[in-house]
Amino acid sequence: MTALLEVRRLGVTARPDTAPVTIVEDVSFTMERGEVLGLAGESGSGKTMTALALMGILPAQSRATGEVRFADEDVLKLRGRALRQIQGRRIAMVFQDPSSALHPMLTIGRQMTEHMRHHLGIDRRDSEQRALDLLDQVRIPDPKAALKAFPHQFSGGMRQRIQIAIALACEPDVLIADEPTTALDVTIQAGVLRLLDGLRRDRGLAVLLITHDLAVLSALADRVVVMYAGRIVESCAVKELATGNRHPYTRALLSSLPRPDARGPALVPIGGTPPSPAARPPGCAFNPRCDFAVDACASAVPPLVEIGQGHHSACPLDPFADGGPR
Ligand SMILES: Nc1ncnc2c1ncn2[C@@H]1O[C@H](COP(=O)(O)OP(=O)(O)OP(=O)(O)O)[C@@H](O)[C@H]1O
Ligand SMILES: [Mg+2]
Repeated sequence: MTALLEVRRLGVTARPDTAPVTIVEDVSFTMERGEVLGLAGESGSGKTMTALALMGILPAQSRATGEVRFADEDVLKLRGRALRQIQGRRIAMVFQDPSSALHPMLTIGRQMTEHMRHHLGIDRRDSEQRALDLLDQVRIPDPKAALKAFPHQFSGGMRQRIQIAIALACEPDVLIADEPTTALDVTIQAGVLRLLDGLRRDRGLAVLLITHDLAVLSALADRVVVMYAGRIVESCAVKELATGNRHPYTRALLSSLPRPDARGPALVPIGGTPPSPAARPPGCAFNPRCDFAVDACASAVPPLVEIGQGHHSACPLDPFADGGPR
């Protein structure tokens, strides 16, 4: 069976022609229909840049390499109309910063319905009804009034939910959600997660869920990809993340973030800071911060290898084997 979306050796380079800096390197993963894939990693690890590359909307002065296979096409090679057929329609994105994603001068109604009329070929009445339903699903109070309002009339959390409604309006196959629930309070967050979970079950929506929130990840994701300094260091089933993780960075990240059950051991921040892309240490980029590093870790980038079914790790040391330090 072929995957719905397949990312092969994705790379992102900033300023490729003047002062090239590698932001994302050798990132490969697949997404199946109806699957939620979590993308985790500290700030600056390249999660958003990976997402923007998948949509073909990298910032100016940056370039993607590799392949993003979707619907028999390589998204990275598409331009103009062919790219617009996919962007926002078949692969939609909820941006990390909701204020930059909504047009400040257009009403919410206009931003939602024009999009639908253009892409779904439905008339004004149907598109308005669909917009009302979607706003209701993301729990915007008084959807009718919301259609006539402008983005600045809503709070940050509401703008984020409106963005989710717009992203879902054209019934995409893939939704990229970059920290979609960070600005939301717990009840609303639960509603948004239920909505996404329902869409994945009923419509086979595939979701790339970028989040720092492990509770959100464990509630919704099937598999998790952990990134560090632009590369994938570990990927596994979400069930395996807490108990079967094998990479020292994954372990450190889990220890530094609140657990979903809010119990467990005290949080341990990861010592040091992630490297900037321009000053990535040689070898395994995590080695200067790793409690288990040996000399060899600084000499070559360890490849991501399969260590169990559907479980990949880029640490050849396996310091936690045989019940080692957990
Ligand atoms: N337009 C740009 N030009 C050059 N470098 C950039 C640009 N945008 C981001 N970067 C750099 O790329 C790296 C990855 O950034 P990215 O936004 O993908 O991180 P992230 O994992 O999404 O972090 P966060 O969790 O804070 O959202 C960072 O070091 C950042 O400084
Ligand atoms: Mg980001």
